Amino acid sequence: MANKELIALKNVQKAYFDQQVLKTITLTINQGDFISIIGKSGAGKTTLLNVLGLLDNYDAGNYEIDANPVNDLKRHHIAKIRNETFGYIFQMYHLISGMSVKENVIVPAMYKKDTSRKEAMKKAEALLKKFNMFAHVDKDISKLSGGEMQRVALSRALINSPDIILADEPTGNLDKENAETILGHLKTLNDSGKTIILVTHNEEVASMAKRHLVLEEGVLVDA
Ligand SMILES: Nc1ncnc2c1ncn2[C@@H]1O[C@H](COP(=O)(O)OP(=O)(O)OP(=O)(O)O)[C@@H](O)[C@H]1O
Ligand SMILES: [Mg+2]
Repeated sequence: MANKELIALKNVQKAYFDQQVLKTITLTINQGDFISIIGKSGAGKTTLLNVLGLLDNYDAGNYEIDANPVNDLKRHHIAKIRNETFGYIFQMYHLISGMSVKENVIVPAMYKKDTSRKEAMKKAEALLKKFNMFAHVDKDISKLSGGEMQRVALSRALINSPDIILADEPTGNLDKENAETILGHLKTLNDSGKTIILVTHNEEVASMAKRHLVLEEGVLVDA
């Protein structure tokens, strides 16, 4: 039996002023997929991830999540999906300096009404331990290396147990060893049933995925 369909984009378009970045994006994402999206700098990869993750809107086309058109969903429902269905690993980490490692990791959990700070801290510590960051839990985020920051970003992305992980150049600033560590974690997550969308300009990194797409001229094509 085919895996459940999670997301369907049909002819989705997005422009910034007169620059048509996404022209006709048609994409179906099923549960358990591990998709890489490769494309040149400026091709619109981050823009596409932001649209997919409901962090940014689109101009035209259809976007359905769990068979619900996104345009029909109420704002609070979209906020819940953004916080609980998706886990984001941003291109520039977007970690908050002046806060400790574990405080950064619990941020998405604090938007959930039913999670106490104590519970969230416990979960954050377990994730940080899993990613070999336990020694750093109380450090200020600005004191970490790039590879360490990326593992904090991964822990934060997972704190609400999202079904779908959107990873934007998760290895872009890392050396080979750290890159392999992060990719290994993504693969393990996919093996455990998580759906992963991995954006990169690196073909070797993209080859980790099970399905390979190229974003070119505002259109997704099979690699
Ligand atoms: N908020 C914005 N306002 C105006 N233009 C934008 C905005 N965000 C992105 N763009 C433009 O849209 C295009 C696509 O940008 P995007 O960040 O999606 O590319 P990318 O494929 O992720 O590139 P990179 O590989 O360098 O990260 C670029 O030309 C960029 O300048
Ligand atoms: Mg980008």
